[in-house]
Amino acid sequence: MNRDTSLRKGDSLELYTPHQPELIIVPTPEQVDQIAAQHVIEQVLGKQDLVLILPTGNTPIGMYDIIANAYAQGAVSFSKARIFNLDEYWPLPWGHPDSYFRYMQERFYTRTDIDSERYHIPHSHVNDPEFEAYLYETLLQKYGPADLAVVGIGPGLTCHIGFNEKGSAADSRTRLVELSEETIAENKKHFSRPEDMPRTALTMGIANILATKRVILLAKGEGKAAGIQRTLEGGIGADAPASFLRFHPNATFIMDRGATHLLSIKP
Ligand code: PGA
Repeated sequence: MNRDTSLRKGDSLELYTPHQPELIIVPTPEQVDQIAAQHVIEQVLGKQDLVLILPTGNTPIGMYDIIANAYAQGAVSFSKARIFNLDEYWPLPWGHPDSYFRYMQERFYTRTDIDSERYHIPHSHVNDPEFEAYLYETLLQKYGPADLAVVGIGPGLTCHIGFNEKGSAADSRTRLVELSEETIAENKKHFSRPEDMPRTALTMGIANILATKRVILLAKGEGKAAGIQRTLEGGIGADAPASFLRFHPNATFIMDRGATHLLSIKP
């Protein structure tokens, strides 16, 4: 396996010591949206030039709506913030309606004052994905470590974060990955033409996520319950990439009742 264990700017040996994540469990998915949005808004109000890592998917849709409303009411500005997306499909034509770039355009970029120079997402249409991964990693190193990463968790027992599927190492960085069959089956449903769904993607790595100062994982619904149980109560390892968040000294899991109903220890 190609493992690059060298420490980079912002990395800390402390990241490889287990910590108990903070667990916030609320009754409804709407409350997850509310608390997640509040965290993002408070952080950007506290530091205008916040560097943020953001997810796509179903889970954060409500969070983005609340943030967009807060912006519309003049309660927050992203004009000095910088945003990196966790991942993007590859290959897809530029601006494909089901690309994560389009998702972010529709849900966040065009609904706030973030400048187009200040948001970054791997390019889905490039010919050379390895070079694109290198460029994205270079940008992350230049502006990182990020202040805050918001991540979701993959379906079932994939326990992926970003597109770091099973087998992803704690020291993995931005790269081209093969999507698991479970991820493909789930995400295909969201494509207007399921046959367009690529089998590969560009994702930042586990080490990029662990290098951020604060990580928030969002999980909603019973479909996430087995993955959350594995992530929080199983061993820390590459068979459940989200479990690596337990190496982070400042990780918070914001979850609804559905996503936590299999946890044996309720905080
Ligand atoms: P979801 O995806 O929010 O659509 O459940 C999360 C993920 O795959 O990371």
